[in-house]
Amino acid sequence: LENPEGPIPMSQADNQLMRPELVKFFNAPGRLGLKPEDLTYADQGMCSKRLLLAICNIVNTIPDGFFFEDDKRQHWPKPITEVRPEHLVVGNGVTGILDAVFWALLDDGEGLLLSQPHYDAFIRNTITRDRAKLVVVQPPVPVASAKEPKEHVAPETVKYYADALNKAEKEGTQVRSLLVCNPHNPSGAIYPRETIVALANFAADHNLHLVVDEIYSRSVFRTEDVPDPTPFYSILGIDVEKEAGLHPSRVHVISGASKDFSINGFRLGYVISQHNPDLCRALLSTALLAQTASPSANLFAALLDDVEFRHRYMAENRRRVAASYNYLSAFLRRHSVPYVPSNAGFCLLIDLRRHLDVIPGEDEAAARESEMRLLDRLRQQGVMLAPGTSYLHPVPGFFRMTYTLAPEALTLGLSRLER
Ligand SMILES: Cc1ncc(COP(=O)(O)O)c(C=O)c1O
Repeated sequence: LENPEGPIPMSQADNQLMRPELVKFFNAPGRLGLKPEDLTYADQGMCSKRLLLAICNIVNTIPDGFFFEDDKRQHWPKPITEVRPEHLVVGNGVTGILDAVFWALLDDGEGLLLSQPHYDAFIRNTITRDRAKLVVVQPPVPVASAKEPKEHVAPETVKYYADALNKAEKEGTQVRSLLVCNPHNPSGAIYPRETIVALANFAADHNLHLVVDEIYSRSVFRTEDVPDPTPFYSILGIDVEKEAGLHPSRVHVISGASKDFSINGFRLGYVISQHNPDLCRALLSTALLAQTASPSANLFAALLDDVEFRHRYMAENRRRVAASYNYLSAFLRRHSVPYVPSNAGFCLLIDLRRHLDVIPGEDEAAARESEMRLLDRLRQQGVMLAPGTSYLHPVPGFFRMTYTLAPEALTLGLSRLER
């Protein structure tokens, strides 16, 4: 630990578990491999051809993280249409890509459906500059229990999307798009395949774009709580036209280097849109505003191209993430802290309602203030958690907690919480 006196950032979705191996890999002699052409503008405008091909290759060739080693499915969810460089737009992180995609898809004031709770920055990424109108969908809240949380990702939740859309349209908002995060942040739940099909069907009925943020798709894992979780299916591997009547030009998948490869410092994200050349052209026109840099691109391509290292990394990463999750969940059970089991990503939701100094449910505003006071008390103890309010969590008193800290940081953070 560099600063053992400082606060432990259990609020950030950051995976530190493979950092030593990654640093060694990236620092190996010759790995960066800069050539004269890396010192000028990229050959494809937004990045190098090498990076585009490396991304296509991992998405097309059954990436090892898409399923468990002992996955019983007979048919791996390969993309229905092979991903080619012209389907990709690369930028400096998923943050910038989300901003660009919604700038291109929505006019000012047009509606974007998003269910709560959701990744906090989706708001910043979609309404701050793009001026989309957030249309909040309110499915049942994932509850703290011993079981895999399904209520907020079940196929039946489509009716809450319909309610939100109808209400928004009655109020004069034209809804144009729907954003889903699969696997889900902040809960770490995996959407069942049927839900993705049902949402595609809903998008078809209402002429919507369906944007799926799959940034955690290779970070799914088994746990002691849920040893057999819902299998992850990328929407790229679902024939949405056949199964849901949705024209594939309406489907856009977002991913990047930050989470599955634990290198958010590289600033590298991309969107895959396989049947919508107009959208790709619009995105290319702004891609230079948020371009990734050639050293990042070279190193990320080197990682993707090294199949042997990538396989070892994926398997070991998944093993360590699951072990950290099991360590944290055992701690929470020992201290009777209710939590929502997670099978993907780096975080889980904990229920600290009984530590609020007001009774939730009676006065919403007072309970939200109480959540902030609790956050402050935790900060004073040297632990940063992420308050549910930032995720539009409908119930005050929930916090998002990261388990993928380096083991010594996680242990120190938990010992401070014990105090
Ligand atoms: C669901 C989700 N999408 C996007 C991002 C942002 O990713 P990037 O670092 O590529 O901007 C995050 C980061 O926490 C995230 O959790």
